[in-house]
Amino acid sequence: MNNNSLVSIFDYSKEEVIEVLKLASEFEKNPNQDLLNGKVVASLFFEPSTRTRLSFETAIQRLGGRIIGFSDASSSSVKKGETLKDTIKMVDNYADLIVMRHPIEGSARYASEVANIPVINAGDGANQHPTQTMLDLYTIYQTQGTLENLDITLVGDLKYGRTVHSLIMALSRFNPTFHFVAPKELEMPAGYKVYLEEKGIAYTEHLEMEEVIDNTDILYMTRVQRERFADPLEYEKVKDVYVLCNSMLDNTKDNLRILHPLPRVNEISVDVDENPKAYYFQQALNGVYARQAIICKSLNLKK
Ligand code: CP
Repeated sequence: MNNNSLVSIFDYSKEEVIEVLKLASEFEKNPNQDLLNGKVVASLFFEPSTRTRLSFETAIQRLGGRIIGFSDASSSSVKKGETLKDTIKMVDNYADLIVMRHPIEGSARYASEVANIPVINAGDGANQHPTQTMLDLYTIYQTQGTLENLDITLVGDLKYGRTVHSLIMALSRFNPTFHFVAPKELEMPAGYKVYLEEKGIAYTEHLEMEEVIDNTDILYMTRVQRERFADPLEYEKVKDVYVLCNSMLDNTKDNLRILHPLPRVNEISVDVDENPKAYYFQQALNGVYARQAIICKSLNLKK
């Protein structure tokens, strides 16, 4: 096991989070730096991805590193029945760092225990997505000038959305007020609410986003995660439950910014894209800088 892995957002202390955000800011100013010269990064995507995989690959290329791996597990020996343990033990011999997305919760922790090199969790089932959280924190700081004392509204699939799980845990260190907007079927799991209660973090729960968006600083929209539903009919019932339209933003605060981890389906109408409060495409770009910083921290390449 390598202690430089990033599996859960709590693998970073608050100080380390701030250190990585500062480093990301340096990469935003100067993204092309030859820090990964001679290093090989394995990019193992057992689940589909556009942003996470491509922003990691961009980050590696901009740092002068080389990439091995797959974007489709069916092209690997997993298809022949090779276990995750054996796959990780093989890649551990070839690369300096593993970036892995996998559909099973806990798979990234397991991989980090098998590997001697650092493992970065690029999303494990409905559990965690800590690198998304780092780019989300970077974006929130960039748009609000602080991470402290913010009013944060999270909308949509709060049950299966791993990005919201990691994000609320990270922000819980910065005294937020949360508003959770979800249908009963997709509400925030009890374990996360108990965690917030134990930490004394305020949260409210709502069925309609109109009840809270006018007073919020960050509106974090999410997609209903079709791939996590056992019953397709249950997905059909809730898939379009929230759709953010431009007209709903008329009375919102000037500093409000709309974030979304993407991909979106129907939950943000395209008429919102031109609103200056829409920030999800800039947020996705920040993924490159945040991931450059995370890679460097995992490989002790820059202090
Ligand atoms: N935000 C995110 O994880 O997007 P991808 O699934 O495209 O990587």
